[in-house]
Amino acid sequence: MEEFPISNGMKKSFYITSPIFYPNARLHMGHAYVVTLCDILARAKKLQGVETYFSVGSDDNTGKIVKIITEKNQKVEDYLSEVSQNFKDLYSKLDISYDQFIHTSDKEKHWPGAIAMWNKLVEAGDIYKSKYSGLYCVGCETFYTEKDLVDGKCPVHLTVPETVDEENYFFRLSKYTKEIKQKIESGELSIVPNTRKNEILALLDRGLDDVSFSRPIKNVPHGIPVPGDPTQVIYVWCDALVNYISALGYGTKDDQLYTKFWPADVHVIGKDILRFHAAIWPGMLLSADLPLPKSILVHGMINSGGHKMSKSLGNVIDPNELIAEYGKEAVRYYLAREVSPFEDGDLTAEKFKEAYNAGLANGLGNLASRILTLSEKYLEKAPEIPEHSIPQEFKDLMNKFEIQKATDFVWKEIGELDKFIQDSEPFKLVKVDEEKGKEVIASMVLRLYTIARMLNPIMPETNVTLKNLIKQNKKPANPLFLRKN
Ligand code: MSP
Repeated sequence: MEEFPISNGMKKSFYITSPIFYPNARLHMGHAYVVTLCDILARAKKLQGVETYFSVGSDDNTGKIVKIITEKNQKVEDYLSEVSQNFKDLYSKLDISYDQFIHTSDKEKHWPGAIAMWNKLVEAGDIYKSKYSGLYCVGCETFYTEKDLVDGKCPVHLTVPETVDEENYFFRLSKYTKEIKQKIESGELSIVPNTRKNEILALLDRGLDDVSFSRPIKNVPHGIPVPGDPTQVIYVWCDALVNYISALGYGTKDDQLYTKFWPADVHVIGKDILRFHAAIWPGMLLSADLPLPKSILVHGMINSGGHKMSKSLGNVIDPNELIAEYGKEAVRYYLAREVSPFEDGDLTAEKFKEAYNAGLANGLGNLASRILTLSEKYLEKAPEIPEHSIPQEFKDLMNKFEIQKATDFVWKEIGELDKFIQDSEPFKLVKVDEEKGKEVIASMVLRLYTIARMLNPIMPETNVTLKNLIKQNKKPANPLFLRKN
């Protein structure tokens, strides 16, 4: 694994972004996954004393919304506030520590940034008017060519795209192909993992086409009007990508956050939106003469039983249901430990239960209970806790976005500590040699404390619970994680 700019330990601030979601009424595991990844990385940075900013948001100016509100007979604002409440409820249930929730429908916070960006592209001579005739998938909010389709359908949504014949503004993306390629090849813009870096380099080798960057307002009535041409709105992806800087106040008077945190340290995205983030967004930033983000972490898709989750297959897993049954800590644990942040992952009810019982009920929960029972019984008070005890290896893994390996590192320590109890049998030792027995128990408590500290980014509530129990020298009143049958 290569080293990333954020791991040099010199930087005092860290800006991490989640993709902004389309305003879907129902949130699925994919949404829960990406914000959890971001949250773990953000908390891991904070744990290292780095000032961190973490933004999330909602991609409101999408054409999809027209159909939805017409069917629901609802006002756009009402629909958007209902949906963003759903997002916020899920984030709060999952303990997502975001600093900013940006709405692209926010005329005060977001629109000035989008308009400022558009004007910069115009100033650079990179916007021109041209005819577009072709295909458009509103699900992807993307223009397609015949050869992209599978049996005449959008390869992602399996729906027949709309045929559009429009006069739009185009962005001269082709002009930036070489420069983007050079930034990615040199690692100045680091794309993680390498497979995704190679994928985007192959695309760049074929050359980038210019992209249609506006749509007629009659087709997309809720978008941001193109400055100087009220018949057109800014293309939703151009508008949406700007959220990463408008969240920091770019384009408004209040842009201290932008000065402090831009360029972003990492945009976390799914592999399906790589091209937008690793080609179009850098092209826009280069044209506007703004710094590029330092890295893009591209995660895979969460499938269920080897298939994409879909209503028709009946394999959709609702994060809210999992949280209700197992608790948020268990959901965060599964996403961190059982899914690689770089590849597709799989989640079924069965797999979840197995992982929960093995890693939490029998693993962490059982270990904590054994150690705390011994310490409550044999130690007068908790041992002195050293100030810094987070292993460097754990921090290094987190700084390289290796969330799964960092979590494995914690569970390796849990396994070793468990074995140490078995081998050293402190409950017997303390009866033969009280002094020595107490020493061994105290050393186990300290190791458990280090485990609790490492859990901070992964399972923040368990981190607090364990640290408190240790400090109060108390065994848990109830098992931390009840075994499920
Ligand atoms: N609005 C755009 C993003 C704009 S960012 C400037 C969008 N929204 S989305 O709601 O469709 O998807 C949001 C994120 O969820 C994407 O990163 C996507 O990769 C992710 N996922 C959607 N389904 C997923 C899974 N089944 N598994 C993991 N992530 C998935 O795209």
